[in-house]
Amino acid sequence: MFKVSSLTAAVFLATAALTAQAGEVEVLHYWTSGGEAKSIAELKKIMQSKGHVWKDFAVAGGGGDNAATVLKSRVVSGNPPAAAQIKGPAIQEWAAEGVLANLDTVAKAEKWDSLLPKVVADVMKYKGNYVAAPVNVHRVNWVWANPEVLKKAGVAGMPKTYDEFFAAADKIKAAGLIAVAHGGQNWQDFTTFESVVLGVGGAKFYNDALIKLDPKSLNSDTMKKSLETFRKIKGYTDAASAGRDWNLTTAMVMQGKAGFQFMGDWAKGEFLAAGKVPGKDFLCAAAPGTANAYTFNVDSFAMFKLKAADAQKAQGDLAASIMGTEFQEVFNLNKGSIPVRLNMKMDKFDDCAKTSTKDFVDTAKTGGLLPSVAHGMAISPAAEGAIKDVVSQFWNDDKITVADAMKKITSAAATK
Ligand code: BGC
Repeated sequence: MFKVSSLTAAVFLATAALTAQAGEVEVLHYWTSGGEAKSIAELKKIMQSKGHVWKDFAVAGGGGDNAATVLKSRVVSGNPPAAAQIKGPAIQEWAAEGVLANLDTVAKAEKWDSLLPKVVADVMKYKGNYVAAPVNVHRVNWVWANPEVLKKAGVAGMPKTYDEFFAAADKIKAAGLIAVAHGGQNWQDFTTFESVVLGVGGAKFYNDALIKLDPKSLNSDTMKKSLETFRKIKGYTDAASAGRDWNLTTAMVMQGKAGFQFMGDWAKGEFLAAGKVPGKDFLCAAAPGTANAYTFNVDSFAMFKLKAADAQKAQGDLAASIMGTEFQEVFNLNKGSIPVRLNMKMDKFDDCAKTSTKDFVDTAKTGGLLPSVAHGMAISPAAEGAIKDVVSQFWNDDKITVADAMKKITSAAATK
């Protein structure tokens, strides 16, 4: 009798404890492709294992433009999610609205300051307080390739310069295949564009032109050459590229329909989700001319102020889980990125990820480590949007001259 009642009491207490702790986390993200969905599912699993309820708020649309619009309407109506995938200067803009939660208690307890590269920690803080938690480091300046296509076309290896790149592209075209798989959306156009600017002009020029938005650099011979190179690449894409999603574009490389794709390493997540093996079924290399530079793109979740204690507790657990070693490993193995948390074991990661890690560290010392403009890491969202639109107009309309494009980019750069 005694045994039964104490057991009942224990069960009752355990249930009560779980109920008191459990909270709901609504998480807004735009990870809906095969590789992306597998990656975010790992966070859901971890949160559920802690007894919390995961409310998925996925808004399709690569690069996150759709998600940003939906988020605005939710916050304006006073009903923000617990966390939203927001990054770069946009974090500062949201924090300035006074809607983000202070994560310092978790960050101090978990020692985030010593676990993050300073360049990343600074972006996660507003006025010295953590308001967002980073999940990864994506490298943007990659080119992906199908080795079978290269072989068929007689291309010896991954091109290191634009001369080599165009020679290879000519061979692929001559073999009757699409040389460059491209998805025609403004963030995808700009992903290619910024890699070209970096490859043609180098790290200092990228910094002056695309980050400092220096009018002289934006109207220079180097910018002219970058735009010409960018336009030349278009000649190697297929006619149906307008509006195509990035993951369908990656699939063209995967299926041997196309040779190359300029894309960040979330493309690797897509190859991996389809069971492809790096180095065998697909190749990764720094975009031509950019081996000594690294455009970084750090995904992060900003957390919104919530009222209920259980929701706050769940939110804190979410922040701690995101920076935990378990999540950092399994998420990044799936996502194609590398852990943002320092000193993680990399033995389970492939060679593309190992190259990325090494280059991240090396370029940080040489000035080659640069924030990606295409992925919201570098300039104000307003200027970024305006420049992206102009660059896409140039890409889509051969009648726009290079000189005109330079003028238009310069005035777009002044958008406040
Ligand atoms: C994000 C990635 C995402 C990609 C495609 C990028 O801006 O940082 O996490 O996979 O867009 O949606």
